[in-house]
Amino acid sequence: MIEVVDLWKSYGKNQILSGMNLQIHEGEILVIVGRSGVGKSVLLRHIIGIEKPDKGYIDVDGVRISELSKTGLYKAVKDMGMLFQGAALFDSMNIFENTAFYLRQHGNPKTKEPYTEEEIKDKVFTALKMVSLDGQEKKLPSDLSGGMRKRAGLARLIVYRPRILLYDEPTTGLDPITAQQINELIVQVQEELKGTSVVVTHDLHSALYMADRIALHRDGKIDHLEEPKTFLNIEDPLICFLKDSLLHHPSGRKL
Ligand SMILES: Nc1ncnc2c1ncn2[C@@H]1O[C@H](COP(=O)(O)OP(=O)(O)O)[C@@H](O)[C@H]1O
Ligand SMILES: [Mg+2]
Repeated sequence: MIEVVDLWKSYGKNQILSGMNLQIHEGEILVIVGRSGVGKSVLLRHIIGIEKPDKGYIDVDGVRISELSKTGLYKAVKDMGMLFQGAALFDSMNIFENTAFYLRQHGNPKTKEPYTEEEIKDKVFTALKMVSLDGQEKKLPSDLSGGMRKRAGLARLIVYRPRILLYDEPTTGLDPITAQQINELIVQVQEELKGTSVVVTHDLHSALYMADRIALHRDGKIDHLEEPKTFLNIEDPLICFLKDSLLHHPSGRKL
């Protein structure tokens, strides 16, 4: 379980998180929606521990992530992975090496030994197959389309089988069909890894497709946190606005 408790964060005079509370249950897909610039990426960076709060804390399975030093964090986040906005692949590495990166860096968490080249190959090919990029491993990120780059980012994430998966706007900038492939992959990965996923998106269509619960991030806090059906019926201008965008969604999904 992930527990965000009374979390505060500002950058200069810019107050971003203002006493945020949020509990994310084991095994769920929690989707966070909110306006651009509200602090959704900032929240994810706190959950994975790469930003520290001014006040408050975050516990992940009882470990106080928000107070760990660099070395403590390095150990703790082995079970966590984040798909950053824009996938953040290493441009000079081909898809195989990108996917193998964390395996080479961390080695086998059970034996504490480095993985053998055979083991790495095996894991990388399994991950690439899962995102349908098998056969593309020699290509550079610049050879891939936007959707393929996202999938490569996803392969790099799932290759070490983290249990907690954070996705920052995984479908932004993708065409609707590719976006839906990514949505389906996120659900598939969740089931395969028996994970807990937190997905930031401003696409309500994606949210409804995958969410167990949807949270609205507003004014530095979580304003609503409901199952999709209940969430849609909240009388709130922002939620109505998001719902409107659904009516114009190319999938033609009706409410
Ligand atoms: N490292 C940083 N230094 C200064 N300001 C930041 C930093 N990270 C984020 N911000 C600011 O915090 C606000 C929220 O950013 P972000 O979390 O990226 O929003 P979004 O909800 O769109 O993901 C923005 O105004 C952004 O400029
Ligand atoms: Mg963001």
